[in-house]
Amino acid sequence: ARMAVLASGRGTNLQALLEAFPPGNPLGEVVLVLSDNPEAPALERAGRRGVRAEALPWRGRKAFEGEAQALLRAMGVDVVLLAGFMRLLSPGFVEAWYGRLLNIHPSLLPAYPGLHVHRRVLEAGEKETGSTVHFVDQGVDTGPIVLQGRVPILPGDGEAEVEARVLRLEHWLYPRAVRLLLLGLARPPEAFGELRGALY
Ligand code: GRF
Repeated sequence: ARMAVLASGRGTNLQALLEAFPPGNPLGEVVLVLSDNPEAPALERAGRRGVRAEALPWRGRKAFEGEAQALLRAMGVDVVLLAGFMRLLSPGFVEAWYGRLLNIHPSLLPAYPGLHVHRRVLEAGEKETGSTVHFVDQGVDTGPIVLQGRVPILPGDGEAEVEARVLRLEHWLYPRAVRLLLLGLARPPEAFGELRGALY
């Protein structure tokens, strides 16, 4: 599969994906990195590994998605991975990629969707947290779950400690979830229905 990653910032999850799916990797390769933020370190990470990186500075969702779709098509991309992409995609975009569009979110979804996750988790006194890779649907951090991992919250943890522990988990989790998708072992229910229809 030919994969694109959309990232708005730091790009440590992108880094893990670039390492797991380098150019020429038979199961899947990251061939394109797109960012709505021209300053994103994610773009440099891609460049350093010889992967095409394009900034599409945000001038509204319609413009961004139009340019993104053109690049995705031109590069023959089959799978799109969101990795710290901080914009919401339109229902049309999500529908076009449904079943081939994943996101990673730093909580045990469906708990704690949205922003400032670690702060809210700590405020609630949770004893564990984690990360979730899921198919993107039209909601915010909703959609069928592909894979989830958990980590403990330890006495004395602040946001930084929780974030670091969750990030280490994510770098392990995301490539594994992508492998499940590429091997045909993860499908959203609707796609499964279509598949069943085709088989019987
Ligand atoms: C990750 O925690 C991811 O779950 C969330 O945003 C963060 C991105 O970090 N969606 P990075 O840019 O991959 O380092």
